[in-house]
Amino acid sequence: MLTTTMADTRPKTMAELLALIQPDMAQVEARMRETAVDENEALHRAIEYLIAAGGKRVRPAMTVLAGRMLGAAPGPIAYLGAALEMLHTASLVHDDLIDGALLRRGQATLNTQWNASATVLAGDFLFGRAADLAAQTDNVAVMRSFARTLMTMVNGELNQMFNGRGHPTREGYYKRIFGKTGSLFVTAAEGPAFLAGAAPALVAAMSVYGREVGIAFQIMDDILDFTADASHLGKPVGSDLQQGLFTLPALLYLEGRPDDPNVAALLNGRAGDATLVARVVDSVRASGAIQAALDEARAYVARGVAALASAPDNGYRQALADLATAFVTRDL
Ligand code: IPE
Ligand code: IPE
Ligand code: MG
Ligand code: MG
Repeated sequence: MLTTTMADTRPKTMAELLALIQPDMAQVEARMRETAVDENEALHRAIEYLIAAGGKRVRPAMTVLAGRMLGAAPGPIAYLGAALEMLHTASLVHDDLIDGALLRRGQATLNTQWNASATVLAGDFLFGRAADLAAQTDNVAVMRSFARTLMTMVNGELNQMFNGRGHPTREGYYKRIFGKTGSLFVTAAEGPAFLAGAAPALVAAMSVYGREVGIAFQIMDDILDFTADASHLGKPVGSDLQQGLFTLPALLYLEGRPDDPNVAALLNGRAGDATLVARVVDSVRASGAIQAALDEARAYVARGVAALASAPDNGYRQALADLATAFVTRDL
């Protein structure tokens, strides 16, 4: 009896959550594959290649679960989920080009196959496709949320490029990760509230859930950049520090060890020095900084889940809480 109770209260894993909404997610996939214009043959193949690589699909999963919880019509929800996954994919195409990354979702990036100009244009096309999918919801509030997210993401990437290197602060870090990642999760969570015609207070609560949980998701991504291995993750690791980017684990390490000479050297002119980077990665891994970063991510999850208190208390509310937990217990 006790074991049954324990099994019932255990948070669902990401795989279990996806299984719960499998038909809705199949609709999202179908919308992503719809083509609105006569696509160039090579472009069409590239897009198929990107979609087929998969990815965890966490943003549409959030949208679908929120839509179910709030009673939004499944048709527009599938379009919104597809729009956000497409926007995410477009941002990854550009991100990998900017970073010169070779591997994504376990396969070669587009920038290893196409020249930079063509890769930029493919990303632009995907942004357009994403906007077209969002417009299929026929909801101006959703379109505005989508457009603001796109602006915030690009602005966040530029902040990272111009101000992200050099002496890092927590404030700057959180601002950056809200911009580049949290904002997209805001639309994933508040968009369904718009589609369901929810009252402004509930829209705001969903927006807080998306923001807090989205920030936690990026902290976890930053932790995995230190702790995972590339073959399992399907993308490069150790790359943040290599690019001179101090994410939360490195920042927390620096707070505890302000006079570490290797860190000082990285910050003072030897950014990108591979030997130094490897030493600092080892130091961060061996320190308490990873656990401390995880604790921060969990605090964000707790705040996000708390924001759901005013939402309808059905099974989907619990599923959204479980999704948030899955974000910070993942190893992928
Ligand atoms: C990677 O996102 C980029 C971040 C915002 C952290 P995901 O971890 O969701 O990547 P995929 O879609 O599963 O490949
Ligand atoms: C997210 O950050 C990138 C975008 C929002 C485009 P990262 O740069 O950490 O993502 P990964 O680690 O390359 O997936
Ligand atoms: Mg990157
Ligand atoms: Mg990363």
